[in-house]
Amino acid sequence: MSTAQPLIFNPLDPGFRVDPYPIYRRLLEEQPVHLTPFGVPAFARYDDCFAILRDHKRFSSDETKSPDYVLQHQAIEAQAESLGADFNEGDRPFLFLDPPDHSRLRRLVNQAFTPRAVEGLRPRIQQIVDALLDKAASTDSMDVVAELAYPLPVIVICEMLGVPAEDQATFRVWSSELARSLDPEITQPPDVLERRVRAISESREYFRGLVAEHRAAPRPDILSALIAAEEEGDKLGEGELLSTCTLLLIAGHETTVNLIANGLLQLLRHPQELARFTSEPGLAPSVVEEVLRFDPPVQFDGRIALEEMEFGGLKLTRGQFVMLLLGAANRDPSHFADPNRFDITRNDDRHLAFGYGIHFCLGAPLARLEGQIALRTLVERFRALELATDPPPYKESITLRGPSALPISFRAA
Ligand code: HEM
Repeated sequence: MSTAQPLIFNPLDPGFRVDPYPIYRRLLEEQPVHLTPFGVPAFARYDDCFAILRDHKRFSSDETKSPDYVLQHQAIEAQAESLGADFNEGDRPFLFLDPPDHSRLRRLVNQAFTPRAVEGLRPRIQQIVDALLDKAASTDSMDVVAELAYPLPVIVICEMLGVPAEDQATFRVWSSELARSLDPEITQPPDVLERRVRAISESREYFRGLVAEHRAAPRPDILSALIAAEEEGDKLGEGELLSTCTLLLIAGHETTVNLIANGLLQLLRHPQELARFTSEPGLAPSVVEEVLRFDPPVQFDGRIALEEMEFGGLKLTRGQFVMLLLGAANRDPSHFADPNRFDITRNDDRHLAFGYGIHFCLGAPLARLEGQIALRTLVERFRALELATDPPPYKESITLRGPSALPISFRAA
């Protein structure tokens, strides 16, 4: 269906942030390969996103292979220098690396995130969710973002890394500043860049101190395991160790916040689905998969073409950055029947919310478990759940999309 209005895909438009799905629908129908106003090709179709994600030999995750990135990045480097900040680009996290460095670093942390290892965290995650909801239960309203979705993943990842409880509040501030590092730099005003540079520098400084403490007294946490790997030889350098900690903090926090907030928002917008979930809490795994498909916390992924090629009817140059619209791909009708329907019994995990291929989300088992426990416990403990405002306000970041607040009212069950 073609409408008279020109098709403009601008992720910076506040209206787009609140509801990107009508634009995705038009892109899928009219221009599945779209040249964005800032000159970057964006792919909306599931098959195109999937093909690019699985082809890491032709599509790199290493942004330094894009001349545009190198140019844009000079701004942030200059800013770091003027602030005297520690911003060593040599230590980029493995999300932005290709094999063999990517494989070596990912292998080192992988064992802490296998479904089996993560299942062992179930009782602790339940305990944290219960304690957070106990606080809210004494009233009849709460902001789900501030009181549940934000604290839960930060407590979990801090405990996994070995960050003491008293330092966790600082982590929340860093984490929301660092979330913007996943947005294209061209989209970030100078004050945002400055806060981001400071957050990177301060969090690295913090981790450096924490590493020293863990070196002196190893504990059963990921940081001690990484230090042991570093001490064993050339598997991990100190800079890599620090950037891996920062990566786990960023990748593991804001994303899960959005999963919980987007999840509750969609359930409240679809009362029949909410009623069904309330009567069948065992549907939690399927609810989480449907939220990930329908309203994914990570809207975009990106890759750099390593060679000149023809792709999706477009000529790509070597070093060309391409955008993958995961939120659109998840609603591609050639892969999902009735894709714009939120259906918690769909039970389909072929969505691209966690990416695909060698960079498939390392924390997927943890994110799923946290999302399942948080949403299930919410509907088990609270009745007559209602949104205070719809749509809720949204955070400014564009790659990681989710409400900045989600005020609700309820009565305890
Ligand atoms: C709902 C929550 C989450 C979503 C939607 C999500 C999404 C993603 C996506 C799309 C990627 C692939 C990026 C790419 O292809 O370039 C990714 C990678 C990654 N995620 Fe997640 N993530 C979530 C939670 C977590 C958690 C809880 C952790 C860890 C504590 C985590 C750690 C990582 C890491 C380390 C990578 C990089 C993997 C690699 O490069 O090999 N994520 N995530």
